[in-house]
Amino acid sequence: MVRRMDSTHIELGGRSLVQFASNDYLGLCFHPEVIQAAQEAMQAHGLGSGAAGLLGGYGPAHARAEAALARWKGTGSAVLFPSGYQANLAAVQTLASLGQLSNKNGVRFLVDKLVHASLIDAAKGTGMAMRIFPHNHLDKLKRLLAEAPAGQMQVVVTESIFSMDGDAADLRGLADLKQRHPFVLLLDEAHGSGAYGPGGSGYAAELGLQDIADVSVVTFSKALGCVGGAICGSELFCQGVINWGRPYIYSTSIPPAIAAAVEKGIEVIGRQPDLQARLRQRGRQLREALSGRWKIPGLEDCPIVPLILNDEQQALEAAGLLRDKGYFVSAVRPPTVPRGTSRLRMTVCAEHTETQVRNFVRQVNEVVR
Ligand SMILES: Cc1ncc(COP(=O)(O)O)c(C=O)c1O
Repeated sequence: MVRRMDSTHIELGGRSLVQFASNDYLGLCFHPEVIQAAQEAMQAHGLGSGAAGLLGGYGPAHARAEAALARWKGTGSAVLFPSGYQANLAAVQTLASLGQLSNKNGVRFLVDKLVHASLIDAAKGTGMAMRIFPHNHLDKLKRLLAEAPAGQMQVVVTESIFSMDGDAADLRGLADLKQRHPFVLLLDEAHGSGAYGPGGSGYAAELGLQDIADVSVVTFSKALGCVGGAICGSELFCQGVINWGRPYIYSTSIPPAIAAAVEKGIEVIGRQPDLQARLRQRGRQLREALSGRWKIPGLEDCPIVPLILNDEQQALEAAGLLRDKGYFVSAVRPPTVPRGTSRLRMTVCAEHTETQVRNFVRQVNEVVR
């Protein structure tokens, strides 16, 4: 059992450890303004929301959070979910329903091999056609799009920043492809939101491609420091989500306190651009320091820094030895990552100091062979 002490420390077995394992990239989990917003909403509206959104569980805090998310992402609307997993499930279900209604040959999902399990589960669960293309392999994707049967909607499913590799989808390439072979793009911005883009609005926005995604998904469990997720899209699509997205229809809506924390978190990220700048500096520092000895994949300033050790046992042992030295990191193994690519998945936070990162690197260099 782990007790979080602040954004960079946990207590484990009676010891305080510096952690490089959390997705709380900007330290909003412990941000006083975010906590205060949640506390005030809880006092005003109670703890739980009491019902699903369609049955009375949707209040003013939910409406404000959705409006803030839509402004943030530059979309017509947004819909809240109790988790990012459910948001992905509902996004895919809605696309499947829409595609079936409007295309005689239904829908085919074209899914990057390394997307999050929720997207794979969701696409499989629709029973529609599905092809998995090799990670970021746009030539293969192009061939699949070119041979698509007439009257079938093609939905490309990918992440902006990949959760286990810290690399990015080739969004410029996808934008290009979209001009020649029209498709619907579902973009999971779980790890791009907060860390990239003006005001943290995401990696697509960072590249000036905010309009590339027809539907984008945000999780509140990463840079926003709480829990839940949202689908951001056109007003019409979001109406579709409310009608066809089973995780929306059949799940109790998120607590108003979480909705209020999300709204405040977006405001804080916009007002404090230094949080994103520090996060990316630390990501760059950690990646550069380790790159002397290892080949570290991913974007140069990404907060996710994978040290791929291949062997499961070696990854577990390295995490254990680092724990002995006072550091908490995750050993990630199959099936979360492909066989033979077990790794230490290290993440930085805006609240890490330069010294903490430097000392951590020294220990990694000592412990990992
Ligand atoms: C890329 C991606 N999408 C979706 C999710 C699911 O989000 P949540 O944890 O909010 O259910 C995760 C969580 O790890 C993720 O990494």
